[in-house]
This record gives sequence, C-alpha cells and structure tokens, in this order.
Amino acid sequence: MAMYRTLARAASIDDLRTLAQRRLPRMVFDYIDGAAGEESTARRNRSGFQRFQLRPEILIDLSKRSLATSVLGQPLAMPLVIGPTGMNGAYWPQGDLCLARAAKAANIPFVMSTAATVKLATLVEAAGPLRWFQLYMLRDRGLAQALLERVHAAGFEVLQLTVDTAVTGRRNRDVRNGFTLPFRWSARKLIDTARRPSWALQMLRSGSPTLQLFAEVVGPIQPGSTITEVVQRQISDAFTWRDLDWLRACWPGKLVLKGVSQAAHVHQALAAGVDGVVVSNHGGRQLDGAGSTIEQLPRIAEAADGRMAVLIDSGFRHGADIAKAIALGADAVQLGRPTLYGLAAAGEAGVRHALHILAAELEVAMALSGASNVGQLRGRVDC
Ligand code: FNR
Repeated sequence: MAMYRTLARAASIDDLRTLAQRRLPRMVFDYIDGAAGEESTARRNRSGFQRFQLRPEILIDLSKRSLATSVLGQPLAMPLVIGPTGMNGAYWPQGDLCLARAAKAANIPFVMSTAATVKLATLVEAAGPLRWFQLYMLRDRGLAQALLERVHAAGFEVLQLTVDTAVTGRRNRDVRNGFTLPFRWSARKLIDTARRPSWALQMLRSGSPTLQLFAEVVGPIQPGSTITEVVQRQISDAFTWRDLDWLRACWPGKLVLKGVSQAAHVHQALAAGVDGVVVSNHGGRQLDGAGSTIEQLPRIAEAADGRMAVLIDSGFRHGADIAKAIALGADAVQLGRPTLYGLAAAGEAGVRHALHILAAELEVAMALSGASNVGQLRGRVDC
C-alpha cells in the first residue's frame, strides 16, 4: 500500500528511477540503469538534448488538442512505443506481461524482445493488437526463420531487427556485480538481496526468471555467464547488409532496423526495402564513445525524407525530449528505461504511471510550443 502512495506522488521519470533503485537489489538495478564502458554515450544521450530549444508560441487557439498519430500504417494514441527489453521478469514477476498490458491500455505498441522471459503464446494473450517483435539475428538461420514464422502467425505485424549488437558492449557494472544467468548467489549478493525483501519475496514466489522465448527456440541456455554473454552466444556476428534480402523475403510484415545512427545507413536501408529505422545507440549500452541519438536525428530525418518511418530512442526521460524529437522529424519515440523504472517500482501500475507522466509532459510541451497535434510540432525547435 505504502508503495502505491509513493507511486502516486512520483512526478517524473527520475522519481520512478529512485523508487526502482529502492526496490531492486543493486545488481538488478545496475543491469537496467548501467551502460557500456565509462557510460559516456549514456551521459551524452542526456546532454545532447541541451543543443535544441523548443520554440514557445503564444496567443493561439489550443482548445482542441490531440496526441494521436500513426506510425507504419498503425494508429497510435500518442507517439510513444514501449521498446524491447530483455529480462523483464527480473524487475517484476511477469514483467513482459505488465509492459504489454500497460501498452495495450494506452493504445501504443509493445515490442516483445527476443530476450523475453515469457513464451510467445503467453504474451499474445496479454498484449493488444499493436504488438511488434524484436529480433536478435540468430547464428542458425533455420531457427531464425522458424521463429519468424511463429511470430508472424501470432499476429505481430512489425519486426525490428536490432543491428547494433553484432558484438555485445562491455557493461562494467554487470561484470563487477557478477550479474549472471541463472542468478548465482554469493554472500555479498545475498546481503544485498536481503535488504530488498519485497523484491526477494516476489522472486521466491514466482521463481527465477529465464529467457523463455529463447529457450523455446534454441533450447536450454548454458548457465553461469553474464546475461549479455548468454544472448551473445546465439546472436550472429556475421549478418550483413546483403543478408537483409534474405530477411526481407522471410518477413511479410513491416521491417524496421533498430540501431541506426548514420544518414548512410538510411540510404542502404531504403535500398534494401526496409520500412523504418529506430535511431538508437541501445541507450549507451553498446558503443561507448558514440554520439547522442537526438544530435544524429536531423541528418537521419533528412535522409529518410518521408520515405520511411523514423523512430528514435536512447535517453528520453521528459515530455520535452519527446517534443524535440518530433520537432526534428521523428515519427515516434521508443522507451527503454523509463517504463522499466516504472515496472520495477510498481509493476503494471508503475508502467502506466510512467506513460501517464510522459503523455502529460508531452501535451504541455506541445501546447506551449503552439502545437495542437503532433504534426504541428514539426520544425518548432531551434539549435
Ligand atoms: C535494452 N535494450 C534492448 N534492445 C533490444 O533490441 N533488445 C533487447 O532485448 C534489449 N534489452 C534491453 C534491456 C535493458 C535492461 C535495457 C535498459 C535496454 C535497448 C532498448 O531497446 C533501447 O534501445 C534503450 O533502452 C533506449 O534507451 P533508454 O530509453 O533506456 O535510455
């Protein structure tokens, strides 16, 4: 009960992050919050927003306002998508379902990760019609193709191929914390977990989360490695632009590349028949030293020139950040950590609260920039 009272008072995504930090053992919180190397790209993702200023507008009729939009031919209640994240069951029991249900209630898409901790059929039961799937290209093409056939048969219409993980970024916090799959206990971890009794009790009741979708497809995972190593063993490090033809032929729905950061990538993606890109550096979890996505967006939107959908993620924490991205040409923003902080703080209620905060902030930012709808926000930014 106390937790829900605190949740109601959480005014920002940063407040939800604080609640998440209080509830999770350190190794789990660090897995969400941490990034690659010295985390300079994660910091740059935030500071990059300072380069752009929304342009205030005054004395105009704002009495009819709407956040509704459409992306990849699908109508969305607002320009937000809950992006793919792995290990969601470690933050709250059945975390994938909490995220999917909150997305359904908000009428926005939920992207199921290859590293989901529920089975495909279970997710489909909980999710709304706006369900997208994220693929880590598996080394075994046959398995990848079989997975895609099942995903398509289950009614997923959009596929996001993550393209910035050919090798996995070194996430120092996970190495230091020894965050492994399945959880391996040491005295330090036990003490840390004992200080987080509500999380510990939930996990005891629901059981340690496992990569259930992965196991369904590739069989039992080898225990005892960091989570990224487990996934890495199965992901192809040799999939190239030329191989995209194969994927395009296998996948009849919309195809989106997640992890694009250069205008040249857009030209290549267009030539390969791709329908959209997510401008992303994986929230700074991959190439430490790369630039911020918001600073890369103008060049990418220019290259796309309305010929493909442009989504973006990495570092979005406020409605004003989202408004800036839309003003700079993005069609929608994907959320990674913001909804995970909500999930870790209070399950589905926490995810709904995160979406509520961002929607409310975005509506204010749009209106005070003189936009009654998403389209009117375009260009309303200075740099
Ligand atoms: C991720 N991300 C991710 N991306 C992906 O394509 N497949 C995945 O399984 C995961 N897993 C994952 C786990 C966790 C804990 C985090 C924080 C992130 C990356 C994610 O989709 C997104 O690109 C970033 O999280 C965006 O940055 P922000 O919003 O977290 O700053």
